[in-house]
Amino acid sequence: MTIPVAILGATGYTGAELIRLIDGHPHFDIAHLGAHSQAGKAAGSVLPGCAGHIASMVLADADAPLPDAVELVFTALPHAAAAESVANALALGKRVVDLSADFRHQSPAVYQQAYGIEHPYPELFEQAVYGLCEHAREQVATTSLVANPGCYPTSTLLPLIPLLKAGLLDTDGIIVDSKSGASGAGRSAKTDLLYCEINESVKAYGLPRHRHAWEMEEWAEGFSATPVRIRFVPHILPMTRGMLTTLHLSGKQVESWHNLLQQAYRDEPFVRVLPAGELPSTAAVAGSNRCDIGIVVLGEQEAVIVSCIDNLLKGAAGQAIQNANLMFALDERTGLPLHATWP
Ligand SMILES: NC(=O)c1ccc[n+]([C@@H]2O[C@H](COP(=O)([O-])OP(=O)(O)OC[C@H]3O[C@@H](n4cnc5c(N)ncnc54)[C@H](OP(=O)(O)O)[C@@H]3O)[C@@H](O)[C@H]2O)c1
Repeated sequence: MTIPVAILGATGYTGAELIRLIDGHPHFDIAHLGAHSQAGKAAGSVLPGCAGHIASMVLADADAPLPDAVELVFTALPHAAAAESVANALALGKRVVDLSADFRHQSPAVYQQAYGIEHPYPELFEQAVYGLCEHAREQVATTSLVANPGCYPTSTLLPLIPLLKAGLLDTDGIIVDSKSGASGAGRSAKTDLLYCEINESVKAYGLPRHRHAWEMEEWAEGFSATPVRIRFVPHILPMTRGMLTTLHLSGKQVESWHNLLQQAYRDEPFVRVLPAGELPSTAAVAGSNRCDIGIVVLGEQEAVIVSCIDNLLKGAAGQAIQNANLMFALDERTGLPLHATWP
């Protein structure tokens, strides 16, 4: 089975990762690459890591018509720009995995709160499925539109959901402290991402309320039926890729949490709960589609959980392909790296 796919936003960081993974996928075939300011150029002239026949493919304009043969579209575009491409692709009968935030929320009103803009296609919200694969397999398999989760929410929700479902967490004021590599901010030029601005430095940003806080709270409740209040502080680190999230948690039966998480994810190919007391690192997941989770009990009612993902893989392109595999009834591991590029 060969499924022709389009990647819109192919010249960005997540677009480049989609190209790398999909070109090695046994059932997906890259039929169309879309860009914006770089449209008209050969992919290889814009993406230094791109080789082979894909490098000579000419980048189409973002709103150029999609080839009829394309069945699946990945939209790796900035939020707001993505919504229109998603709507166009769906109108043509294509299936879509959207890597942007445009369809991640449960209502246009929450989207507007988080992103400060009115949503141009509120009627599409109903058909979007939030694609946190491990918790939404059945819904993903039957939808035409998957909203791929954000990177910070992925690294937060995977450890949180089983504990919330078990009713073991204090839910008022969960502290989520995250660190991301600079690729998390995308490829477009920004002064505060210049080498001299981020090298030898760590800084918090996005306060008082980063837009991913809404997504975390909405879906923590969405998957567990338990309302939560999350205090989320993201930081940017002088590294290219990787994300480490530390959850400061309190609740009951803390000694059972490690076992509970291990049971919840024991059959999951891409979630690894480390032995009790061991903590994950970004290097151990870089280039893989894995989320590694470590837990340390601090006291009778307190624990710290640390999770690590590669923001461009499990936090973006990898999870997008995992979702696409589910949409096309393929083994969800197809074309996805389990092992990191370590060291
Ligand atoms: N980076 C991450 O770790 C990460 C993780 C999870 C989710 N995401 C989300 O994934 C999406 C893509 O992120 P990214 O980091 O890959 O971004 P990026 O590196 O900035 O790339 C953006 C892409 O979109 C195109 N583009 C820019 N403005 C456009 C417009 N107005 N209309 C159509 N196309 C436009 C660019 O084309 P040109 O280069 O031709 O201008 C480029 O291909 C974003 O919504 C982001 O929030 C990113």
